[in-house]
Amino acid sequence: MRRTVLVVGSGGREHALALRLLASESVDHVVVAPGNAGTTLTPAEWSKRGKTLRSTPLSPLELARSERIDLAVVGPEVPLCAGLSDQLQSLGVRTYGPSAMAARLEGSKAFMKRFADRNGIPTAPYEVVTSLVEAHQARERFDEFPVLKADGLCAGKGVVLASDPQELEQALDGMLSGRWFGEAGRTVLLEQRLAGSEVSVHAICDGERAFVLPMVQDHKRIGDGDCGPNTGGMGAYGPAPLVTPELFVRLERDFVDKIVEGMAADGAPFRGTLFAGLMITSDGEPSLLEINVRFGDPETQVLMNLLDGDLADVLDLAAQGCLSAGSVATNDLHALCVVLAAAGYPGPVRSGDVITAIEAAEAVEGVHVYHAGTRRVGDELHTAGGRVLGVTARASTLQQAQQRAYQAASCVRFGGMQMRRDIGARALGTCAP
Ligand code: AMP
Ligand code: GLY
Repeated sequence: MRRTVLVVGSGGREHALALRLLASESVDHVVVAPGNAGTTLTPAEWSKRGKTLRSTPLSPLELARSERIDLAVVGPEVPLCAGLSDQLQSLGVRTYGPSAMAARLEGSKAFMKRFADRNGIPTAPYEVVTSLVEAHQARERFDEFPVLKADGLCAGKGVVLASDPQELEQALDGMLSGRWFGEAGRTVLLEQRLAGSEVSVHAICDGERAFVLPMVQDHKRIGDGDCGPNTGGMGAYGPAPLVTPELFVRLERDFVDKIVEGMAADGAPFRGTLFAGLMITSDGEPSLLEINVRFGDPETQVLMNLLDGDLADVLDLAAQGCLSAGSVATNDLHALCVVLAAAGYPGPVRSGDVITAIEAAEAVEGVHVYHAGTRRVGDELHTAGGRVLGVTARASTLQQAQQRAYQAASCVRFGGMQMRRDIGARALGTCAP
């Protein structure tokens, strides 16, 4: 009997996870709740072998009650923080993804910062406030404009890097009054601003052990050269050459291992993907910016191309607390993802633009086009969200992965399409292709 795996979520991350799980020897069927247009289609190479990929309109709990699920993999932070892992497990479904207790590392930034301090994990100085009076007093303790962070989940919009006093004041008021983010913003962190290069550190964890995956760099701003507003991520590549083998060992020892040990000691063992966002300052010192309790998006689209072996076996072992040294295998390739975003993103987006020529993009060697905000309408594929597609290429060098990804991305068409032209450019020391 081979596995039926449930993937929870609807983004590019979930399409990439679903395809990678489908490629696992131990998996016959993958069902994605709710999924997107991409997760409704089984690629021909897998349907020939009797495998299926489908989406379901049922909720994860309804699905778990109505059919056999051997392994559930929860993608996004919102259901994790709301306890979906705990609920699926109480229905007898083995689930990869942390408990609600462990997911507080992402669900509350104040919790995360206090946890980091208690466990000696390097992170920028901060103050936690719940009123304007406290905020103004705390503000005095920072030399520059501090970064403001809403405590709770805000769909990636809860961080404000103010550049003048009015903007700072407006953001404090918007958050603390509850107008901007409801309850999630009524507690605010002021944090010292850091400069440097960011890196996304992912580890598959089983509560006691962690296996650190190749380092990935995301590109968060909407525009080339890191201009314009922050987004969920406009593209990524890995392995990131910024992280030398020596730095890799430090990140593993001083961040990942300490987090896993600290959570276990607190009685909330972390089983799932730990994703630490770090700033490597100009003097080479790493500092923890955030902890996420899930795979990154679009980092996953890159990572799924850098792993070898049976991913379902690995996540199943992690969910059981039984990872061993040889469980996770990585290949020697490089991967690069270019996100194609809809008109208006990261603000209010236009939906319903017709997407064409994905087949031409996928014909480029080493390329997968992962769907995110897509919907099938009759015979047409339409945009239906901010980030629409993640055109991802793998190759034996980063340069070739970049060349393939841009060649493929240039085939795809839809009205108002936005993409950055410089994904990976800095690592390659080149200008945008
Ligand atoms: P976070 O959700 O905490 O990772 O913040 C989102 C983004 O804001 C990060 O990826 C950084 O680009 C930026 N950021 C967060 N904290 C800081 C900081 N202390 N200094 C400079 N930039 C930051
Ligand atoms: N790409 C950043 C994130 O997933 O939070």
